[in-house]
Amino acid sequence: MNATTASSPIRIAVIGSGPAGFYAAGHLLGHAANVVEVDMFERLPTPWGLVRSGVAPDHPKIKSVTRIYEKTAAHPHFRYFGNVELGADITRKELVEHYHAIVYATGSLTDRAMGIAGEDLPGSWAATDFVGWYNAHPDYRHLEFDLSHERAVVIGNGNVALDVARMLVLSHEELSKTDTADHTLDVLQHSNVREVVVIGRRGPAQAAFTNPELRELGDMDDVHVDVDAAELQRALAIPDPNMSPTAERNVAALRAYAESAASGGRSIALRFLMSPVELRGDANGVREIELMHNALQADASGALRATPTGETEVIETGLVMRAIGYRGVALPEVPFDERHHVIPNAKGRVLDPEDAAHRPGEYVVGWIKRGPTGVIGTNKKDAQETVDALLEDLEAGRLAEPAWPDPGAIERLLRERKPALVDYAGWERIDEHERSRGEPHGRPRVKVTDIDEMLRIAAAEKPNGNDGAEDDRASDGTASTRYGTLGTRG
Ligand SMILES: Cc1cc2nc3c(=O)[nH]c(=O)nc-3n(C[C@H](O)[C@H](O)[C@H](O)COP(=O)(O)OP(=O)(O)OC[C@H]3O[C@@H](n4cnc5c(N)ncnc54)[C@H](O)[C@@H]3O)c2cc1C
Ligand SMILES: NC(=O)c1ccc[n+]([C@@H]2O[C@H](COP(=O)([O-])OP(=O)(O)OC[C@H]3O[C@@H](n4cnc5c(N)ncnc54)[C@H](OP(=O)(O)O)[C@@H]3O)[C@@H](O)[C@H]2O)c1
Repeated sequence: MNATTASSPIRIAVIGSGPAGFYAAGHLLGHAANVVEVDMFERLPTPWGLVRSGVAPDHPKIKSVTRIYEKTAAHPHFRYFGNVELGADITRKELVEHYHAIVYATGSLTDRAMGIAGEDLPGSWAATDFVGWYNAHPDYRHLEFDLSHERAVVIGNGNVALDVARMLVLSHEELSKTDTADHTLDVLQHSNVREVVVIGRRGPAQAAFTNPELRELGDMDDVHVDVDAAELQRALAIPDPNMSPTAERNVAALRAYAESAASGGRSIALRFLMSPVELRGDANGVREIELMHNALQADASGALRATPTGETEVIETGLVMRAIGYRGVALPEVPFDERHHVIPNAKGRVLDPEDAAHRPGEYVVGWIKRGPTGVIGTNKKDAQETVDALLEDLEAGRLAEPAWPDPGAIERLLRERKPALVDYAGWERIDEHERSRGEPHGRPRVKVTDIDEMLRIAAAEKPNGNDGAEDDRASDGTASTRYGTLGTRG
């Protein structure tokens, strides 16, 4: 039985500070604030996951969703431990010793491979790399993209493919008002890319684009969206019984593109029914990509699948980006489904691979729960499901009983092991620094890309000696961030 009172609260660790982690924390604090305390762990000093490092820089409105997460972070029962990676800086076992429940919200950190010859040639990239690079993710800041070629090929028909295509042809004027990483702005300004060919293995009715993202291509300055009317017609020849209203609107947008006259100095061509077969080139890089033409065929369930026709096409290019999906990675000591790259779960309860029973006190949300699909808002409902399961287990006394539930215990351990721990006030200093660098240039922020620099900014005390955090000095001299009203509980 988990006895909870305001003086003996349930302590929950949320691992990952993306939308899923924040929605889970928000639901927990919204539904059980009087009995729950949340500590959020994040491997980077900065929060927000893919809202900071995935969402395209020319979509600033979407990023304003972080205002909701800021409200959660301001809750007196919430603490943020940035620059702490589960697996590297703290183990699952240690979390189990300190918390009644753990919620994994680590997203899908890596990319999927095409599994074809030549994929590793220079000039062949995962969209994950390019996205991380232009969004100033510290892990990708050192990458060097050769944009000296006139034509780039993007594989995949999802929204990430469209983000990548847009970023390759947006003008410097458009990009220079955004929070695109400074190192990227310089390279893109001198880019020779004039044509981006986006390749779908199935037809327009099966594409995963959403309507606003497909339509906005038509609003870009000096960019023509090139759709071949005959190819579009061929790709729509087999009616899709599962065609959604979104797909119908996509098809209408594509028909309009097919009818529009060529204009603009740069273009995005949308091609369908083709699968990559091989990348060819040499040690200097990719020279061309061979693609197999496909036909659509219904499988047993009625879904239309791509089947090779045997006819191939070669496109000359020096830059290939595969935007065919992200992929979750295993966390040490945490069950992992190697086939679907998710943490196995039933409605968010983590399942033990041995007997498929729920591992008491372990939960999962977001992309690492259900795979790398869904927009930001999808994670809200998803987190609600997991939190409902957790609260049901709390009610039924099924949560774990930690050995050291005292909030000071975990913080002492972390500060000892990771002196450069970034608390929420530290992140606010980074945030303020980035915004003030952007402001004179009409940009929302200029992102810091180097972790050491982030840590220096986060650690800098304000001139009056008040660093903004609610700090107590523990008797051993270590700083201890307290939970607002719970700080004095005995
Ligand atoms: C390129 C791209 C653009 C997108 N654009 C949009 C958009 O414009 N609009 C929209 O609605 N949706 C967009 N999405 C989808 C949206 O970003 C996702 O639905 C959402 O971010 C998934 O949330 P998450 O919390 O599961 O994962 P994430 O956002 O990836 O967050 C996971 C967090 O966990 C942290 N983490 C990972 N491992 C550890 C560890 N071991 N220890 C501690 N922390 C860890 C990561 O650093 C990260 O901060 C986009 C996705 C991508 C890939
Ligand atoms: N602005 C936004 O709202 C925005 C921006 C970016 C991302 N997101 C969201 O983030 C999620 C992830 O986006 P995503 O684009 O990474 O994934 P996605 O939507 O799942 O699209 C992946 C695409 O890759 C194709 N593909 C997969 N394997 C392939 C292969 N081996 N060869 C060729 N093509 C292959 C898929 O085709 P099949 O359909 O044939 O499998 C599909 O077209 C989505 O939910 C997306 O909406 C939203």
